[in-house]
Amino acid sequence: MLIPTPDPMTDTVALHDRGMTDRSWTDRTVVVTGASRGIGAEMARRWLALGATVIAHCRQPSSDSELDAPAALERRIGHLAHGLPGAEDRLFGFAADAAVPGQMGAAFRRLLASGADVDAVLFNHGSTTFADDGENILIGPPSSYNGEQMRHLVQINALSVWEALHELGQAWGRESLTADNALRKRSIVLESSSGALNPNVFDPAPYKTSKAMLLHFVRDLAPELARYRVSINAISPGMIDAGLTHLPCVEAMRSQILEGIPMGRYGNPEELFETIDLFLSGRAAFSTGNNLTLNGGAYVISQ
Ligand SMILES: NC(=O)c1ccc[n+]([C@@H]2O[C@H](COP(=O)([O-])OP(=O)(O)OC[C@H]3O[C@@H](n4cnc5c(N)ncnc54)[C@H](OP(=O)(O)O)[C@@H]3O)[C@@H](O)[C@H]2O)c1
Repeated sequence: MLIPTPDPMTDTVALHDRGMTDRSWTDRTVVVTGASRGIGAEMARRWLALGATVIAHCRQPSSDSELDAPAALERRIGHLAHGLPGAEDRLFGFAADAAVPGQMGAAFRRLLASGADVDAVLFNHGSTTFADDGENILIGPPSSYNGEQMRHLVQINALSVWEALHELGQAWGRESLTADNALRKRSIVLESSSGALNPNVFDPAPYKTSKAMLLHFVRDLAPELARYRVSINAISPGMIDAGLTHLPCVEAMRSQILEGIPMGRYGNPEELFETIDLFLSGRAAFSTGNNLTLNGGAYVISQ
C-alpha cells in the first residue's frame, strides 16, 4: 500500500546479493517526478512492471494541505499499480509543488533523510502552460512572454530540479559512498526537450529556456558526480504520444507538426522508456554528461 513518505527502506539485502542482472529492477528503487499522469505515469508503470520499487512524486496543490496523507496520495498515484500484481507493495509517494521555490528541495531532503534506498531518479515533471488548468499553451514570439511567465516555467522546469539535485549531491557525493554508488549504479536522468536546442519548434520561449538549463545542469554536474560514481544524463524527446501532446491545442497542430518530423510520426512511450531505462538501469553506467535526443530526425531539418 501507499504510504505518505517512504518508510526507511533499510536494505536488509547484502549489496552483492542485489541481483543486478542487466535488465533486473528487482531490489532497485527509482524516483519518478511528475508521475501522476502523462509520460511520468507511463515510465513509473513500466518500472513497476519490471519489479522496481517506485517512489512517485506528484504535485502538492495549495488547496490540498492533506496531500501527503495516504488517502490523498492514493488518489493521485494509486492508479500506477493497477493491474500489476504485487506492485502496490512497491509503490510509494510524496508530494511537492515545483512552482513554489524550495518545496522540491525540501521534499527530496526529507525523502533522502527518511532512509529511502534510492538508486535512480528520473526528473520528468514539467510544464509548458502558464494557467493552472494546464490546458493551453500560449504560443507567441519570444518577447511576448513577461518576466513572471519566464520565472514561473524556469522555477517549475529547472530551478526545482536544481533544488533536488543539490540534495542528491549532498547525500550521494561522499567518498564513503563511492563504492556503494558504483555497485548500485546510481544514476540520474533529466528530461529536457528537443525544443531546448531548436529555435523552430512551437514551444514557448520560457519552456525552451528552462529545458536548456537542464542540459547545462547535466554538463556541469557530470564530472563532479562522476568522482563519486554517480552518472547524470539528459534525454531530449521530440513529440511523444503521451501527456502534453494530447492537449487539444497541440492535437490541432498534429498534421503541421508531423510535416517537420522526417520519420512522419510521434515517438511512443515505450521508445522513450527504453532510452531512459538504458541510463537508469545502469546498462550505460559509463555514460555521463550526455544528452540523447529522440525526435524522429526532426532536428536534422530544423537546425
Ligand atoms: N509529451 C511530449 O511530447 C514531451 C516532449 C518533450 C519533453 N517532454 C517533457 O516530458 C515531461 C512530461 O511531459 P508530459 O507530456 O507527460 O506532460 P504532462 O502530461 O503535462 O505531465 C506533467 C507532469 O508534471 C507535473 N507537474 C507539472 N507542474 C508541476 C508542479 N508545479 N509541481 C509538481 N509537478 C508538476 C504534473 O503534475 P500534475 O498532474 O499535478 O499537474 C504531471 O505529472 C515534461 O517535463 C515535458 O516537458 C514531453
